[in-house]
Amino acid sequence: MPAIACVNGRFLPISRATVSVEDRGFQFGDGVYEVVRSYGGTLFRLDEHLDRLVQSARAIRLPMRYSLAQWRRLIVRAHRMSRFPDAKVYLQLTRGPAPREHGFPTTVRPTAVITVRKLEPLNPALRRDGVSVITVPDLRWGRCDVKSLNLLANVLAREDARAAKVFEAILVREGSVTEGAISNVFAVIRGTVTTSPTDPSILPGITRAATLDLVRADGLPLVERTFSLDELRAAEEVFLTGTTIEIVPVVSVNGEKIGTGEPGPVTRRLAGRFAAMVEAECGARDVSPPATRRRKRSR
Ligand code: PDD
Repeated sequence: MPAIACVNGRFLPISRATVSVEDRGFQFGDGVYEVVRSYGGTLFRLDEHLDRLVQSARAIRLPMRYSLAQWRRLIVRAHRMSRFPDAKVYLQLTRGPAPREHGFPTTVRPTAVITVRKLEPLNPALRRDGVSVITVPDLRWGRCDVKSLNLLANVLAREDARAAKVFEAILVREGSVTEGAISNVFAVIRGTVTTSPTDPSILPGITRAATLDLVRADGLPLVERTFSLDELRAAEEVFLTGTTIEIVPVVSVNGEKIGTGEPGPVTRRLAGRFAAMVEAECGARDVSPPATRRRKRSR
């Protein structure tokens, strides 16, 4: 079967999958989501993504519908049915169908959707040569740590990036860089790897956390602090992290060169380390059939 959906436990091709027009995900964006990817048939850091789904659901007082073991079983089954060794798996959980009224319905039956699509790999030239970005005002709400289905500000920012023919839009709030529209932002500032702290103004990225582990393992100077747009523009290196993009060097911001205008040594080193880590966790890329491999939990 090609792209697969699982709607409330029922498996079917994405083209035939539907939810009610009364669903609060549709009516209000009242729900949360996750994006997991697989490499060579192995889901990367599924436990971390499920942990974050729990955090997001808890923050909006939304029941999980399934136990973590059930989520895991459904995800693995949908992934296996898709037969895509390199897949993006979306998990969407909403407050379910109910007559339209802003307050929570009295009986909530959450809608749980899993979709599995083929992951088109990033053009290797982007990783090799780096990408350009623009900055746009961060118009989002006060709980950006929640991976909410409400993505309107991100959608508008991505559209601005597309119109400007650049890879990503970096969001700036009151002069400070928060994150990208679909990524976290790192900068090397006076030799120190710098990224915004995990507070409600950013999504605590799974790739961000993995990258921080690599920075620490390498003993590179590191700080998690708020940094300004001016610091970003003057940084020696800038890079983005995210599930679908991994680590991507940024070589220009708003048309101005970053550093030498080429991917810098820290970014290249971390991207190499990241690839090695994926290889170690997920094995060779041609492994099939799909399976998950549980990582030893560090927490
Ligand atoms: N986006 N910040 C935002 C606003 C994001 O949407 C994402 C991911 C990230 C990176 O998080 P992670 O490393 O856990 O993927 C940061 C996903 C891929 C998406 O919405 O498609």
